[in-house]
Amino acid sequence: MNNIDIISKTITFVKEKLKNAEGGHDWFHIERVYKNALLIANDEVCDETVVKLGALLHDIADSKFNDGDEAVGPEIARTFLEAEGVEEEITNHVIKIIENISYKGGNVKKDFSSIELDIVQDADRLDAIGAIGIARAFNYGGFKNRGMYDPKIAPNLKMTKEEYKKSTAPTFNHFYEKLLLLKDKMNTASGKAIAAERHRYMETFMAQFYAEWDGEK
Ligand code: ADP
Ligand code: NI
Repeated sequence: MNNIDIISKTITFVKEKLKNAEGGHDWFHIERVYKNALLIANDEVCDETVVKLGALLHDIADSKFNDGDEAVGPEIARTFLEAEGVEEEITNHVIKIIENISYKGGNVKKDFSSIELDIVQDADRLDAIGAIGIARAFNYGGFKNRGMYDPKIAPNLKMTKEEYKKSTAPTFNHFYEKLLLLKDKMNTASGKAIAAERHRYMETFMAQFYAEWDGEK
């Protein structure tokens, strides 16, 4: 099968798999990550097929929704790619991307690195910042019944990740916990440049939010 066919088959497969996915990880998230990945890949020497397949399959099963079982996504992806007769080398690389992409605050040791993983990881991180990142955060917070902001607990940088998870910290805390940290975690030059823009946008949003909260004009 040629590369264009496998990409369009993968798109159909992922759309179908994610048709009941929650808002933060639906097909539109995958589509944005795919576009971000292609944008970054333009500036890098890389295997575009691996980048495309990695972006399309990176959230095929989020472990948060599979009782924390991190093997589910890679297994689904492997079964699909093997059934489609994709070369073993490409399949193995895509699986490595899925296994290693997740942001876990750095407690997961990276046992693999490649430019293709760097690209897909940057593309996924870009979708967590900027205007889309803000929207996703409040969407997630609403889903969890969290408040937007509480001046007594935000910004609370002293909370550990475990304390934060147990707490009912409002969505605004998530900016300090994760969103504002992402620009310094980018791998590629073009990823860094796009992240810097989106970071500034979040800072502007936060300043405006605080001003409106305080009843300023
Ligand atoms: P990823 O897709 O990078 O693995 P997550 O699954 O952790 O990220 O989160 C999906 C989306 O939900 C992201 O945009 C993230 O910022 C947002 N999110 C995750 N945890 C929280 C939280 N505690 N409060 C607000 N938004 C959150
Ligand atoms: Ni993702």
